[in-house]
Amino acid sequence: MARKPNHRLLLLSLLLLCQAPVCSSGPLPLILNTWPFRNAAVAAWRTLASGGSALDAVESGCAACEQEQCDGTVGFGGSPDESGETTLDAMIMDGTTMNVGAVGDLRRIKNAIGVARKVLEHTTHTLLAGESATKFAESMGFINEDLSTNASCALHSDWLAWNCQPNYWRNVIPDASKYCGPYKPPSILKRDGSTYKETGDSYGHDTIGMVVIHKMGNIAAGTSTNGIKFKIPGRIGDSPIPGSGAYADDTAGAAAATGDGDILMRFLPSYQAVEYMRRGEDPTTACRKVISRIQKYFPNFFGAVVCANVTGSYGAACNKLSTFTQFHFMVYNPLKSEPTEEKVDCI
Ligand SMILES: *[C@@H]1O[C@H](CO)[C@@H](O)[C@H](O)[C@H]1NC(C)=O
Ligand SMILES: *[C@@H]1O[C@H](CO)[C@@H](O)[C@H](O)[C@H]1NC(C)=O
Repeated sequence: MARKPNHRLLLLSLLLLCQAPVCSSGPLPLILNTWPFRNAAVAAWRTLASGGSALDAVESGCAACEQEQCDGTVGFGGSPDESGETTLDAMIMDGTTMNVGAVGDLRRIKNAIGVARKVLEHTTHTLLAGESATKFAESMGFINEDLSTNASCALHSDWLAWNCQPNYWRNVIPDASKYCGPYKPPSILKRDGSTYKETGDSYGHDTIGMVVIHKMGNIAAGTSTNGIKFKIPGRIGDSPIPGSGAYADDTAGAAAATGDGDILMRFLPSYQAVEYMRRGEDPTTACRKVISRIQKYFPNFFGAVVCANVTGSYGAACNKLSTFTQFHFMVYNPLKSEPTEEKVDCI
């Protein structure tokens, strides 16, 4: 007598299969962020758990880093510019509508990602900058306050005492590699040839870049940073530039970049990674291809990128330097019981 098939067992094994990573729907939601900024991933996850959107999660995740001044490179009290002031760059992008809000060179407002969200929600612009962005933020209810701390003032006075080294000037007089400014162009331009110098101290963590995929498939991405130490006032990095600091598109995926923004923004690495995924590359390959394109021009650039496709697979890549050989990032999805730090070897 033939045994009757056990339907209950079959159903059970199908259910189990669909919870494994092989399931085509993928493990969603997904939180992915640059560097081991754990509390940012926790905040984003909580926002999703309490019914928030992907955009809400990106905002709360980046805001958590701004509040705890992640590595001194996000939020107030870090990366003083040449005049000693801390200024902030941030962006948030909605991959469902392709709306973006961003701020660059934002002064005296702590919650830069919050202001970026207001640009997205309450204006038809994409990017506001400088003192005018501060005025906009105040009109949206943000508090105007000093972003300097004892730590950032100490960094700045050490820099002054060290003849303003390092700095980002070239082909000027007096010789910027030896002296403080003010600088002016020489009467006869003798180019020093170098377009990019490893400053040596910039390999600390910097921007938080975050990608969130809601379980319904909505994708958002965002960034927040105080830029690089001793930047020339007015400098805006890659973080608030859509396609550079981050990019999200529900139909292809999302990415975020971190590192030397002055180099990164010339290559729109986040946009490029998403386009590679749209063409069928897996996230890791997409990230690696982006890094190798920049390497061809700037072999010593400092940078890394995280990528996720629409089904929740993710990857990362970084450019290998003597002082930077592994890139750490955070992942949180239903396959993990807590935010998990992962790492990738640089190429
Ligand atoms: C900052 O420096 C001032 C003056 O030197 C000092 O009174 C204050 O306690 C310091 N604050 C912190 C948080 O260390
Ligand atoms: C996302 O990447 C994974 C891993 O390479 C792949 O199996 C999956 O098909 C990709 N999803 C899409 C929609 O391309």
